[in-house]
Formats: sequence, C-alpha cells, structure tokens
Amino acid sequence: MKRTRISIPERGLKKKDIIDMMKQYGSEDPDYKKLRTWSLVYYLGEEHTRFLQEAYNLYFSANGLNPMVFKSLKRFETEVVDMTASLLRGDENVCGVMTAGGTESCLLAVKTYRDMARDKKPWIKKPEMIIPDTAHCAWEKGAKYFDVKTVRAPLDRNFRLDVNAVKKMITRRTIMILGSAPEYPYGIVDPIERLGEIAVKNGIPLHVDACVGGYMLPFVEELGYDVPPWDFRVPGVTSISADTHKYGFSAKGASTILYRDVNIMKYQIFVYENWPGGIFASMGILGTRPGGSIAAAWGALQAIGKKDYLKHAGESMEATRRLIDGINSIPQLEVNGSPTMSLISYRSTAKDVNIYVVGDQMVERGWQIERQQRPDCLHAMVTPLHRTVIKQYIADLKKSVRYAQEHPEAASIGDAAMYGMISRIPLRGMIKKNVVNMMMDFYGPQAKRPAVSDGDGVMEGAADGPDLAQKAGLWYLKLMDRLKRR
Ligand SMILES: Cc1ncc(COP(=O)(O)O)c(C=O)c1O
Repeated sequence: MKRTRISIPERGLKKKDIIDMMKQYGSEDPDYKKLRTWSLVYYLGEEHTRFLQEAYNLYFSANGLNPMVFKSLKRFETEVVDMTASLLRGDENVCGVMTAGGTESCLLAVKTYRDMARDKKPWIKKPEMIIPDTAHCAWEKGAKYFDVKTVRAPLDRNFRLDVNAVKKMITRRTIMILGSAPEYPYGIVDPIERLGEIAVKNGIPLHVDACVGGYMLPFVEELGYDVPPWDFRVPGVTSISADTHKYGFSAKGASTILYRDVNIMKYQIFVYENWPGGIFASMGILGTRPGGSIAAAWGALQAIGKKDYLKHAGESMEATRRLIDGINSIPQLEVNGSPTMSLISYRSTAKDVNIYVVGDQMVERGWQIERQQRPDCLHAMVTPLHRTVIKQYIADLKKSVRYAQEHPEAASIGDAAMYGMISRIPLRGMIKKNVVNMMMDFYGPQAKRPAVSDGDGVMEGAADGPDLAQKAGLWYLKLMDRLKRR
C-alpha cells in the first residue's frame, strides 16, 4: 500500500498540541526511566537530566564549527579534553578534540592513521588495520569509509583477544592496531600492554577504543577492581577515544579523541584553502557542531566530580556483580568470559534452553533485551540505577528460562526463531544484501512510520510488518524453500 506523503503544515500548529503529539509518539518507546533498558541510555535520574538540559539549553544555538568564534565552546572543549587527558593518565603532550559520538571518534582515528601512513610510509598502497573480532562496528564503518582493509583478530576460548594471532597478522601494510577498553559484546578489556609491545616493536600506532569504558575504568580501578593497564600509561598507545555521552553521563552527541602527540593529531585536520567562501579548517567529520552537547559534557564532568563518578562506578559494579552471580546461579545460563566492568553477556549452556526464547520471554516481561550472535547470547550494559531492578531481572530470568525449557516449540516461532536462524545462516553476503534492501524499505519513499497507539488503535501510517531480524529470517526461509524445490 502506498503511503501518503506528509508535507509541512500550511500554518504552524499550536505549540502545546505539538508537544502533546511528541509525547504521544514517545509513549511506546523503551521505558529507560524505569530501568527497563540495558543499552542505549545512561540515565542518572531526573535531577541530573534537568541539569544537563539547562546546560545544553544555554548553548543550544551556539556552533562549535570555528574555534575562534564561540570562545566559550572552545574553552569547554579544551577543558573537557584536559580533564579527560588527566583521567586517562596522559602527560602534558596529550591533546585532542571533542566529537559528536563514539562513531565519529573511531572514524577519525582511521582517517588519521591512514593519512599518517600516506605521509610516512608512502609505499603502502593497500592499507590494513588489525582489529579484534569484538571491535565495535564503527571500526568496520571507518575502514569502509576510508578504504582501509580490516584484518580481524580472533578470540581465545575465554572470549579474550588472541594476541599471538595479532602478532602474526602484522604486515608491511599495517597502518594501525586496535584494542578496546572494554569491547562491547563481552565487556572485556583487551590485553593492551601486550598490544603496546607489538605496536612499539613494529612502529605501528595503537588506538584504544575506550568509548564505553573511558569514564568508568579509571574509577573501577581506583575502587580496587582488577583492571589491566590500558590507558596512556601503556607504552605504544598513541590515541584513545572516550565518550562523555556514555559513562560520562552527559547529553547525547559528545565524545573525545585524544592523541599522545600533536604530530599525530595533525593528520586528523581538514583544511581547504581555495573555497570562495573562505579558508575552511575543521578537526572532525562534522561541520556545524552542536554547542549544547559540548557545553553539557563540560557541565557533566564539573557537576559529577571524581567523588560521584567513583560512587557511580561502585554502584554499577555492585549491580554487575549481583547480576553476574544471579545469572551464574541459574544452572542453564553462564556469563561469557570474565567481564572487566559493567558490560556483560550470557548464553545458555543447556541444550533444552534456547537463549533467544529466554530473550523473548524477558521482552514479554517488559525488559528491553539486546541479542548477540557467536555465541547466541543476551547482553546487558549496567548503570548505577540498575541496582534497584537486579532482583526483579533475575526473578524474571528464572521464569523465562523455565518457560524456554517447558516450551521447546517456542524456539521455532517469533523472534527467537529469526535470531537463531540469522546467527546460523552461512550465506553472510546474502544477509548483507538483504539487510541493505530492508534499510531501503525503512528509509525509501515507501517508508512506513513506526506504529504508535493513539488510544483508539494504531495511528495512520503505522508499520505493521515484521522487524529487521524477522524480515531477514523470513527471507531466509523463502530462500531455503526455493532451494529445496529445485
Ligand atoms: C566500544 C565502543 N566503541 C564505539 C562505540 C560507538 O559509539 P556511538 O554509538 O556513540 O557512536 C560504542 C557504542 O556502544 C562502543 O561500545
């Protein structure tokens, strides 16, 4: 069915009505305020949120494009970088910039090291970067955008990066090595010290992706938890990315990338000197940069302070310990590896418990659940306030496991069937092609608006079709059917 295109209203609507509509549209979004989400949102409560909004609003219209215009923003940025550099044990030479998020920071590191290699190792025609199999997808994206080939290093049985494999992957074309602190899927800090040794020995830059751990691990370490060295104290680490909009608890749209030396950072700079509009220079990927998120990041660091970051780290770790103990106390489940901080994932060790059915059941019970693959597992990113819901989560998890055991048929229906299938489909290239088609459906001219109940049923334009995973699974079923009939 063709959808009617919406156009800008002839006359503006009443602002109050618009706000009501907006609230209505969000009424079925995940309930992060009730701690039902375990990813995407780092929520410290309404008081902190209101403070961030106030800080953001003060610089709502300010633009961080030109560092010489809004001097306030440049000051915030310089001070955020300074505070981060000292947190990450950088010396006086460490420098950096703020970006709009983790992905921008990762992309910039790829661009920097590619351009540095072009300058210093001009014989490299087909650059390669070695990244752990667990590296965030932003690194694959950066590699694609900047035409660098990724060489993915495997993990050992305990979900840890196999450093010996990294060593063997180094070639004359390697322009950078990546380690994560921690990686997203299992929450483990990669062996950065050993990567540093390899990097130094081979004269290759080493970036540490601490997008998720940058504002958490230093405090976790201070609390006495076992955190392997990963920051600028490690020789060989040439740059680190850390997101204020994750465990820095600032407003969305703020991250940092720091370099050991300005002579490395210079390869990140873009300048075009012949534009009729004037000479243009920028540090990041964006042009216009939202002043609000830069200001709110500064505000968050100032307002929370080391004492409360420590407190939040302690509470998150306590909640994580309870979550891990609760999961491991369920005989059919096991946490993957030994997570270093507050990101964990867990799988089923019982043949008769399908973990995706457990996931579906948790969703039925009101939790927002992230599914992962290789192995099939569920993920959770824990924040301080989650400590108030761990008991309920574990109680629901037990019920969900029991349900999965008593209903083996559930593995072949609903999301569980689709996720299970997708994780095992051997034709990965075809999956990719189909997902591109699905994204075209989502964003193309026929795109449907998501379903939002308006109280009397479903609003006009609502999507009634299956979600991405379901669609991929349905496509696979059709494909298998076709092959069988041949
Ligand atoms: C380790 C790591 N790197 C990079 C990113 C990308 O960050 P963003 O979503 O802010 O672009 C994430 C996001 O979760 C991450 O966990």
